[in-house]
Amino acid sequence: MSELLLRVDKVTAGYAQDIDVLSEVSLCVKAGEVCGLIGLNGAGKSTVVKTICGFLAPKAGTIEFMGENISGIDPHRLIDLGICYIPQESSLFPYLTVEENLLLPLQSRARKFAQVMRARYEEVLEAFPVIREKRQAQAGDLSGGQQKQVEFAKAWLQQPRLCLIDEPSIGLSPIMAEEVFVWIEKFSQSGMGVLLIDHNVRRVVRMSDQINVLSLGRITASGQRQDFQGDLHEQVRQWLGLDF
Ligand SMILES: Nc1ncnc2c1ncn2[C@@H]1O[C@H](COP(=O)(O)OP(=O)(O)OP(=O)(O)O)[C@@H](O)[C@H]1O
Ligand SMILES: [Mg+2]
Repeated sequence: MSELLLRVDKVTAGYAQDIDVLSEVSLCVKAGEVCGLIGLNGAGKSTVVKTICGFLAPKAGTIEFMGENISGIDPHRLIDLGICYIPQESSLFPYLTVEENLLLPLQSRARKFAQVMRARYEEVLEAFPVIREKRQAQAGDLSGGQQKQVEFAKAWLQQPRLCLIDEPSIGLSPIMAEEVFVWIEKFSQSGMGVLLIDHNVRRVVRMSDQINVLSLGRITASGQRQDFQGDLHEQVRQWLGLDF
């Protein structure tokens, strides 16, 4: 059985003291698996990830990573724990070069693992030809698709145990989006656990081992991939409470 990495248990959270955006949200992510989180705009999907990462402290419930309670963690500790977050918006520093952006999160570990890092960096340059070509360019000068590749390369370099990925295909061409999904599959095949949020419900269902539907801040359906196949549109309508 796959190792349990992340356990979110009955988490309630929100941005204002008296308004809850999430109510008793529970989900799990296992090593080597993709856990999909789908839902309408404003359902609270990004808020789930922001709460896991410590940008919001849960008002109730617990978040555990490999058995350790990380509820309300300082976000800067995530990398050292082995958690990587690829946010919906860009996390790159636009005035730093691509190479500087890639190597920045590794600095604290670079001396200790210098050789491993170098080998991994060479692997990334091999896997992402665009990065090899553009590594001295300012990250902000790259196209949206190229910047997304840098985000994925940065995550791959960190070799986290868990990767939280929010709307990776948004704004990308279909070809570029497919490339991103292939990378996510590569991440999970390498043993990483992935929490994936994307508006492409069909693609998320196809590649997830476990699927959760979030509706108005509550998990309204969850199950394994086979539970979510068939007439996808009809089911998703029902899960989301759209009876039309
Ligand atoms: N920084 C914030 N301050 C106050 N309210 C916020 C903040 N960010 C999000 N919200 C609110 O929290 C709710 C959930 O937002 P969230 O961004 O988590 O939804 P989402 O499911 O990720 O939506 P989308 O599919 O559009 O990305 C929304 O009502 C939103 O307006
Ligand atoms: Mg969002």
